[in-house]
Amino acid sequence: MTGEALRSRDLRKTYLTKGAPEVEALAGVSLEVRRGERVALLGRNGAGKTTFLRIASTLLRPTSGTIEVFGHDGDRAPEKVRPYIAVVPQEGKPFFHLTPREQVYTYLRARGLARETAKARTESALDQMGLGDFADRLAITLSGGQRQRTMVATVIATEAPLLFLDEPTIGMDPFARRAVWKCLRGLTQRGSTILLTTHYLDEADALSDRLYIIEHGRVLVDGTAEDLKRSVGGTLKVTIPNGRRELERFRGFGSVVADQDAVTVIVAPERLGELMDVAVRAGLAATVGPVTLEEAFLRVVGRSINED
Ligand SMILES: Nc1ncnc2c1ncn2[C@@H]1O[C@H](COP(=O)(O)OP(=O)(O)O)[C@@H](O)[C@H]1O
Ligand SMILES: [Mg+2]
Repeated sequence: MTGEALRSRDLRKTYLTKGAPEVEALAGVSLEVRRGERVALLGRNGAGKTTFLRIASTLLRPTSGTIEVFGHDGDRAPEKVRPYIAVVPQEGKPFFHLTPREQVYTYLRARGLARETAKARTESALDQMGLGDFADRLAITLSGGQRQRTMVATVIATEAPLLFLDEPTIGMDPFARRAVWKCLRGLTQRGSTILLTTHYLDEADALSDRLYIIEHGRVLVDGTAEDLKRSVGGTLKVTIPNGRRELERFRGFGSVVADQDAVTVIVAPERLGELMDVAVRAGLAATVGPVTLEEAFLRVVGRSINED
């Protein structure tokens, strides 16, 4: 294992489908993931996240550009890369005729782990994913969230040097999502590296050491969640539901977004008192909260992450 955990240079992918227009899913993506890092690709539906992950995990070939995993060329020598990685694909499902316990154990054995190790890792992963009560039920009888937990358990149990997770917490309840986050943090503390995709801003914020915002197959920005939030130009967000009639006065306090009657002002803490004063005098209610990745995303992409 040499080099960074992962590095792509000008990676491009154009899908050619007979009878349909071609789709440029990746338009030159260059990024790195250092060893031991948790990196998130954050983007809207169709941004190109899954395409990147599929190429990085040797499931798909790029149209051009390079992808390296621990110094091995993922396109020319995928067989060198595969032993180091494990993947939770988007919409991957456990085998319906296996139970979660069988699924995880069988997968570990297929990867060459010894019986005892596979057994211990299986129990630990099932436990961490809260699957204890369902571990011996056929996957076909499990809910969507339980199946997704089984998929995550399967991959975390590998403790592979580089884990790829495509929207790992989709369909999970908040409790299960937190269990996944905790588990992934534990894995990087023990030396694994993680690349995940998500369209959940809270997940990118809570989980990533660094994130890349992707839109239309391009990286628009990268940095820590804190960097991105700071780039919004203030740390507090004041929402004034009927603020439009005082819009001009609010503009003096920082960047302002008006949506119908509501106004949102991004403001530095030093100016909060003054701003609240203006609102109160005008008879307007206002609520204060921290700037989140939502504002950062909106600023960088120009659209909300959930907008179609
Ligand atoms: N197999 C495919 N054939 C043709 N187009 C595809 C295929 N897979 C994805 N696309 C298109 O490529 C773009 C990027 O998709 P995807 O990588 O799945 O994005 P994301 O995971 O960010 O939602 C989308 O426009 C999507 O419709
Ligand atoms: Mg996807």
